[in-house]
Amino acid sequence: MVNLTGKTEIVNADEKNLRKAAEIIKNGGLVVFPTETGYGLGANALDKNAVKKIYEAKGRPHDNPLIVHVSNPEDIYKYAEVTEIADKIIKKFIPAPLTLVLKKKGSELNAACKLDTVAIRVPANNTARKLIELAGAPIAAPSANLSGKPSPTNAEHIIKDLNGKVNMIICGENCEIGLESTVISFNPDESINILRSGSITREMLCEFKIRELRAPTERPVSPGIKYTHYSPDAPLYILSGSDEKIMDFVKEEAMNKKTGFLCFDENLKYPEDNNIIALSIGSKNNLKEQAKNLFNALNKFNVFGVDIIYSVEPARIEIGEAIYNRLIKAAGGKVINL
Ligand code: TXA
Ligand code: MG
Repeated sequence: MVNLTGKTEIVNADEKNLRKAAEIIKNGGLVVFPTETGYGLGANALDKNAVKKIYEAKGRPHDNPLIVHVSNPEDIYKYAEVTEIADKIIKKFIPAPLTLVLKKKGSELNAACKLDTVAIRVPANNTARKLIELAGAPIAAPSANLSGKPSPTNAEHIIKDLNGKVNMIICGENCEIGLESTVISFNPDESINILRSGSITREMLCEFKIRELRAPTERPVSPGIKYTHYSPDAPLYILSGSDEKIMDFVKEEAMNKKTGFLCFDENLKYPEDNNIIALSIGSKNNLKEQAKNLFNALNKFNVFGVDIIYSVEPARIEIGEAIYNRLIKAAGGKVINL
């Protein structure tokens, strides 16, 4: 447990609170803050002890490095060796929900465990950038969930998990994207790797040479890959098949279990069944809406206390690639072909 001098302050993102939050960061404390992707659990990246507290509060494995958040693109050059391709990408996209894994410059940063690289990003969200600026230091921040659980995009879920474990929670803002940033790394031959898909999509990066990653090896390129992720409390299965087959299957299963159904708006037209808790993530063709709602829905199933969750299958294009990636991890790879 983190030692706190007081209890967690839960505040909105006005100027006065941001100044207070910046003081907490400067003094080695923990602040949960909104970004465009989700909420982050932040500490001063230059303060080794403060960074340690993040791991304790989250229950995060100690070999899983953190993303460093800076308030402007110039700071990326201050803390990392920027390759020619990285420079092009920074100029084209950043600030954005895009994290670059680059060789670390100097030894000031404490977020990368023992790696010689740093994952660094400039959030597009104004509150996040303002907080970093006021703190006058880069902020190390993982997603503000307990390790292994769905990332939070809604303050209620954070309060449930982290109240009493952090000094301040800045809430009240909707995270417009809803899925964590795209993480990319760079190879000597000018190609890039997409280590984690996100809203900066493969399609948006297509002018750069993308080298496909092989299946995870014993030593994954991004340490976070090897841990279970996003798991709701109940087991989750992805259903692959026509709408009719999916509905028949879910209804049959719901006869003896309290069943969560993660679905599209279009699936809600089927007659209600009292044993089924159906939560839509949006219209079948609206991938952005689905991305924004996914984690919120997974977290809600925990509140409803369902026995099992079945999910429809999102289209695997554009941000749909990232939606599918989070879902298949949440499902631990379990897909039922109908
Ligand atoms: O959108 C986001 O990126 C959110 C917000 C708060 O910024 N943060 C986030 O952090 O998703 P986290 O810790 O949940 O995920 C960071 C991922 C992990 O999979 C971690 O292993 C990977 O980035 N990572 C961090 N540093 C790395 C490094 N030096 N090399 C490779 N992967 C790294
Ligand atoms: Mg995370």
